[in-house]
Amino acid sequence: MNLEEKFEGLEETKRPLLLIDSGLGGLNILKKLKEKYPVENFIYICDNEFLPLGNKNVTIINRRVNKMIKKIKEINPKGILLACNTLDSISGETIESSFPSIDIFHIVKPTMEEAIKETKSKNIVILGTKNTIESQAYMKFALMKKGLNIYGVECVGLANAIEHNKDVDKVLKDELSVLEGVEFDTIILGCTHYSVIKSKIAKKFKDIKIIDSSDIVIKNYEQTHNQMLENKASKQFIDIFITKEDELIRENISKNIKDNYEINLLNMKEKYEKNN
Ligand code: DGL
Repeated sequence: MNLEEKFEGLEETKRPLLLIDSGLGGLNILKKLKEKYPVENFIYICDNEFLPLGNKNVTIINRRVNKMIKKIKEINPKGILLACNTLDSISGETIESSFPSIDIFHIVKPTMEEAIKETKSKNIVILGTKNTIESQAYMKFALMKKGLNIYGVECVGLANAIEHNKDVDKVLKDELSVLEGVEFDTIILGCTHYSVIKSKIAKKFKDIKIIDSSDIVIKNYEQTHNQMLENKASKQFIDIFITKEDELIRENISKNIKDNYEINLLNMKEKYEKNN
């Protein structure tokens, strides 16, 4: 698919907001934004070929992101919303510096700030992918605050279980078992996939404040939206680019988005891979 051709000539007022994630997490955010902004145009790059991003080697992610940046430049969106904590943790700065003239909506920093605002006991738990927790990206934004205890939980299998709706209860129970005996009053859902099972998590932590990174990145966008180029289209378009053909993601898209969308396959394969 030639992106440049597809989007060239698009009027400035119809420039889309672009979201990136690896599956259901981004889809959930797209669904909420679509409802709030019925004349906004959206593009969702759903890198389902790379799920779970949270367990991939960081060098490989960086290489992938560089390829993605080239594709995004062909699309020329009006803003980029990082609907993925892992991507923001590993490559948020690279993405920001690659697009100096458009708004980038980060997820990690505002989510950490919200948790710091909300906690009374100063004990915060972050649930995130292996890459997000290991990158210490969340910690970086808490460094200046004194007296905070932050406990990161690497949920190695949870995003994948949610995406495929397989063994979610078991994986959740196993991965959260490290929290036994840990005292905290605030928990961050530091992976957008976890938002999909927020009610299950809330049931486990009755009196604990839950900060959902998906809600926070939407808020981050809402704060800037009015200053951004308003879409004048009477009907929105939603282009979803999947990077791997897959029945399940197509089914999930149709369940969540329902109408006005188009799905295209985005080939992210390296040239040399094509010959193998
Ligand atoms: N939804 C992504 C995040 O917020 C991670 C999912 C994955 O591991 O691919 O971190």
